[in-house]
Amino acid sequence: MRIFKEKDYDAMSRRAASFIAAQLMLNPRSVLGLATGGTPVGTYKTLISMYQDGDVDFSGITTVNLDEYRGLSGNDVQSYRHFMDEQLFDHINIDKARTFIPDGMATDAEAECAAYDARIDALSGIDLQLLGIGGNGHIGFNEPADSFAAATHRVTLTRSTIDANARFFEDIADVPTEAYTMGIGSIFRARKILLLVSGDSKAQIIRDACTGPVTPALPASILQLHGDVTIIGDEASLHLLG
Ligand code: F6R
Repeated sequence: MRIFKEKDYDAMSRRAASFIAAQLMLNPRSVLGLATGGTPVGTYKTLISMYQDGDVDFSGITTVNLDEYRGLSGNDVQSYRHFMDEQLFDHINIDKARTFIPDGMATDAEAECAAYDARIDALSGIDLQLLGIGGNGHIGFNEPADSFAAATHRVTLTRSTIDANARFFEDIADVPTEAYTMGIGSIFRARKILLLVSGDSKAQIIRDACTGPVTPALPASILQLHGDVTIIGDEASLHLLG
């Protein structure tokens, strides 16, 4: 694991955007795995500025997102499809036909999950997967559990995840209780992983994920076993890691 401790959120976002831009320069046809949530917003903003300055080209890439709320259509302003359009895709030269996110409205959940994994396989896997980490150690929406779920699957969100995500909704009752998420296996097969972490509230969980036992009770701990993980965080989140 490589760990970059940056002084604050903006510096973390700049470092992360440079990391992603370097990947696209080395392989303009990269398959990027992308995340939503608050943590990568600054990274996406920085990538948009880099694109506007002519420093990065998204025309050849394909993206697959980690997750989507079950029951929300891509037109819903709370959907992760809407988030990605608004925070990144609508501002860069990406071919939207090559941006993939699970379909929250799929009628056959199992078929949707199988098709999502088949799509990733057909793309020959993910070159660089961007991750955040939940306050409970989840990655994607792989919540703490008794075993690691390998494939894309339907998940019931934990109370702590619903509480954490309520900040994006008018009322906590509006937060969906289920989602589709890439499995730990799908994430782990990415050739490179970039995990972003910010804020003091994540300090203990990122330390436990990096230095504690590898256990499905803390899903991000599996990253200790991956051969190419980079963590970029701010001082507030990484100060317990020395
Ligand atoms: C988002 C995702 C989640 C978030 C995590 C952290 O697509 O899969 O695992 O990365 O919940 O969220 P923030 O960044 O809002 O703290």
